[in-house]
Amino acid sequence: MDLITQAADLLNKGKLVAFPTETVYGLGAIATSDTAVASIYKAKGRPSFNPLIAHVSSIEMAKKYVKWNEMAEALAKAFWPGPLTLVLPRRSDCKLSYLISAGLETVAIRMPNHPMALELIEKTGIPIAAPSANKSGSLSPTTPQHVADSLGKNVDLILKGGACKIGVESTVLLVDKHPTLLRFGGILPAQIEQVIGQKVRTFLTDETAPRSPGQSLSHYAPCKPLRINAKRVKKDEVLLGFGPVKCFLNLSPTGSLQEASANLFAFLHQLDKDKSIQKIAVSPIPQKDLGLAINDRLKRAAHR
Ligand code: TXA
Ligand code: MG
Repeated sequence: MDLITQAADLLNKGKLVAFPTETVYGLGAIATSDTAVASIYKAKGRPSFNPLIAHVSSIEMAKKYVKWNEMAEALAKAFWPGPLTLVLPRRSDCKLSYLISAGLETVAIRMPNHPMALELIEKTGIPIAAPSANKSGSLSPTTPQHVADSLGKNVDLILKGGACKIGVESTVLLVDKHPTLLRFGGILPAQIEQVIGQKVRTFLTDETAPRSPGQSLSHYAPCKPLRINAKRVKKDEVLLGFGPVKCFLNLSPTGSLQEASANLFAFLHQLDKDKSIQKIAVSPIPQKDLGLAINDRLKRAAHR
């Protein structure tokens, strides 16, 4: 039996399988089983109020579980498979565990852009619930080794699919009369606005906008103190650079935000593990394009 079939079997038996996506590695469980989904929260040590994403392998699969509409259709057609998570109302006949949405009447759903992830979901035939495959509050995993280091025996199988191409989690969008961005990620607000022909609110610029339960500060934190927007390094720090600067590690010497996002979590992992390092300083990252997602994660990593 090939590995992906084995993984699908494990999932159908209620076990946990870590799998690659284009953003970060996910810790998967079959999304219709309360006990399987509960074991995700347990393995991650995750507060139970923080809901998970249901991963599907097609638009048709998504429609079986959430109330689909024109806006969802346009966005899915434009960006799926890809790093955009849509938050939509559950259908009344939705078979997904309520634990996946922490009791909410909405479900976050996305189709990941990775052949192994898609084959795995097709084989189970059921959506896979998956948060990032790391202990709650620690750095997100972009390689199989990160998953093994963080979760160890708490995961039954790790499907190895190389390093994640995007490296930061998906954009989360509440699909609603007033579409609202709940998390910055691989798809930019301007790209979404272009497809739906409407302004997108963000929780950052609009005080009245709903917040995503996952937007707690001090998410994505390394163990070591981290300082952002650092123009100079202090004596006890090493610099995680961006652009043409002298530094210990460089997210992108040429100043590419794409390259920087792909390297972000892997480099933070590396600095965190290095026993010779006490504190981390990070160069300023431009607050545009993928820089929005990078700065969002860095701000959280800096908050202790
Ligand atoms: O790229 C990704 O999205 C990765 C890969 C594995 O797909 N997954 C991921 O999952 O980052 P997680 O669980 O770490 O983040 C899910 C985000 C959280 O911020 C959560 O609060 C939000 O989605 N979310 C989930 N369900 C929601 C809902 N019903 N309403 C509002 N926000 C929701
Ligand atoms: Mg996470």
